[in-house]
Amino acid sequence: MRSLSLLLVYLVVTLAEAASYKDGPFKVKESIVAPPRVWVEHAPAPSNHILELRIALPQPFSPLLEKHLLEVSDPSRKRYGDYLSKQETESFLSPHPHTIDSVSEWLASYGIHDDDLHSSAQGWVTVRVPVGLAEEMLGAKYHVYRHSETGEYIVRTTSYSLPEVLHDHVQFIQPTTMFARFRAFSSTLHWTTVPVNDASTSSTITGPAGNQVDASCNQTITPTCLRQLYHAVGYETSATNGNQIGITSYLGLYVNDHDLQQFFEAYVPAACGSNYTTVSINGGQNNQSIAAAGLEADLDSQYAFGLTYPTPRTLYTTAGSPPFDPDLHVPNNTNEPYSYWLEYMLSAENLPQTISTSYGDDEQTVPESYANRVCMGFAALGARGVSLTFSSGDYGVGDGDPNPETQLCFSNDGRNTTMFIPSFPASCPFVTTVGGTIYIPETAASFSGGGFSNYFPRPSYQDRAVSDYLSKLAPGTYEGLYNPDGRAYPDVSAQSDWFMVAYQGQFGYVGGTSASTPTFASIISMVNDARINAGKKGLGFLNPWLYSVGYAGLNDITTGHNPGCGTEGFNASIGWDPGESREAFHHLNKSS
Ligand SMILES: *[C@@H]1O[C@H](CO)[C@@H](O)[C@H](O)[C@H]1NC(C)=O
Ligand SMILES: *[C@@H]1O[C@H](CO)[C@@H](O)[C@H](O)[C@H]1NC(C)=O
Ligand SMILES: *[C@@H]1O[C@H](CO)[C@@H](O)[C@H](O)[C@H]1NC(C)=O
Ligand SMILES: *[C@@H]1O[C@H](CO)[C@@H](O)[C@H](O)[C@H]1NC(C)=O
Ligand SMILES: *[C@@H]1O[C@H](CO)[C@@H](O)[C@H](O)[C@H]1NC(C)=O
Ligand SMILES: *[C@@H]1O[C@H](CO)[C@@H](O)[C@H](O)[C@H]1NC(C)=O
Repeated sequence: MRSLSLLLVYLVVTLAEAASYKDGPFKVKESIVAPPRVWVEHAPAPSNHILELRIALPQPFSPLLEKHLLEVSDPSRKRYGDYLSKQETESFLSPHPHTIDSVSEWLASYGIHDDDLHSSAQGWVTVRVPVGLAEEMLGAKYHVYRHSETGEYIVRTTSYSLPEVLHDHVQFIQPTTMFARFRAFSSTLHWTTVPVNDASTSSTITGPAGNQVDASCNQTITPTCLRQLYHAVGYETSATNGNQIGITSYLGLYVNDHDLQQFFEAYVPAACGSNYTTVSINGGQNNQSIAAAGLEADLDSQYAFGLTYPTPRTLYTTAGSPPFDPDLHVPNNTNEPYSYWLEYMLSAENLPQTISTSYGDDEQTVPESYANRVCMGFAALGARGVSLTFSSGDYGVGDGDPNPETQLCFSNDGRNTTMFIPSFPASCPFVTTVGGTIYIPETAASFSGGGFSNYFPRPSYQDRAVSDYLSKLAPGTYEGLYNPDGRAYPDVSAQSDWFMVAYQGQFGYVGGTSASTPTFASIISMVNDARINAGKKGLGFLNPWLYSVGYAGLNDITTGHNPGCGTEGFNASIGWDPGESREAFHHLNKSS
């Protein structure tokens, strides 16, 4: 009888909860004072427009995952390299069963039945509902917002609520208050008429560790230059030892195979005719029309695949981002791409050891709840042994306004104060963030994003390096403009300008931390290759290793700075610094 009466109590409780969902009381779950300045309210959202709502369920065991991540990534620990399995990471990411019950009852009270909910290993629920219903469920008012510079539209709300009893069972719901756009971090393309074939160069200059580098590399970066600069000349990777590299593509920026082959013919002849595996996530495409070629995707593939050939390589192409056409009453995913990408990756058995991503946005346009969630997903990939590199951004300490007179870097917290604008995922402590250098000898590229997170506290692995840097700053420097207790980045940097690329059938130069990121990832992939050949595991999450041991294999960049927000930004200096951190390896073999 005892179990029956318990069951009755349970039924009564759940029925009471179900009844209370629609009646409230509702309580604000998340709100923002105003959208970022560039988004202007345009019109009420059409009530029959379909929204793809992503409901993030809390992951009560995720703090344990963080603990495991640090143990398997820190070379001084016994468990270094003892990476977690897919099943293990999923067990740390799964929601509480009571949460799943509560959320399915809440959805059922609106006639929504999600059959997949109970199999949601990582705590995501996706439902498609018309704006009218979403407004009822979330006590929200959706509007169409127009981007004042690009004319793009998105459907968002500045506030949403949930029944009070559900607050502990929902981490967040998007698209609601997220106004991020996730740009590609590659700046303007400069066209050139003739491909400069580096093989014809005869004179050399001396690189950072006494290595000889073709003199042309001071004006034109090619894969040969990068191998010379970072001591990888003649290093041959294996096609069959199990090592792999991946790049991600978002925002409908596609790798053009013709461009890739044209680039290989000119700069990596051995790779001619070689292919890559395309993984489509959430309907992501890889449109081969020449007009659909993405500069970012071409740059990433040509360098990551060219430098590491014949390492097996994968392109992950994920759909989902603005722009959005408010007149089309069809389900368009205008959320954001990272959660879809992570959901796919974390449920995949086989992961590349190294993955490079050159996309991001201002941290303040990303809700903190979302940033935390996605950053934890990156931690889970790290715990599975994946080295993730992300670009630090192309706007110095600023926000990307090209005009220094008007680049005032407004905070979006209602106070409208000037502050440095960190970028995300660069600010996530569980990824390796790559800044940019230029010229030989290398100096900080002025556009190189660097600074301090306003969301994530400084992780212990960088405590010493960052406090050393801060202690050298003149007292009061930039007080109030940045958060000295925040996660500081970049972690490393590499060449980032005057990269030769083939794009839409022509050769051109491109620059940005989008260039340094696949470069650094490629060097790491080579180190992983050497480690696997030696019977070791790949390096996994790099930062605990980088800040404790790995930095000894890097050159220190001590000149240049990264202006923005009407300031000179941070100076590159001896040791770690946000103006420019250390560049990629000077001894590939030694550091492996
Ligand atoms: C490379 O170019 C920069 C900028 O023009 C120049 O300052 C530097 O001296 C050059 N390096 C060499 C080794 O010539
Ligand atoms: C690369 O693979 C795709 C399918 O995965 C195929 O359509 C394409 O022809 C291949 N390209 C080359 C150069 O082999
Ligand atoms: C591929 O891109 C071209 C050029 O942007 C476009 O016209 C075409 O419709 C696209 N194809 C598909 C299948 O989306
Ligand atoms: C929205 O989705 C529909 C159908 O999936 C597609 O045809 C349309 O091109 C999408 N619109 C935009 C702006 O992406
Ligand atoms: C913030 O302040 C600037 C300069 O005073 C002003 O141009 C801008 O409109 C303000 N923005 C908001 C959202 O108040
Ligand atoms: C950067 O270095 C310059 C020249 O030494 C100095 O004047 C400036 O105060 C430094 N800036 C910071 C933020 O340390």
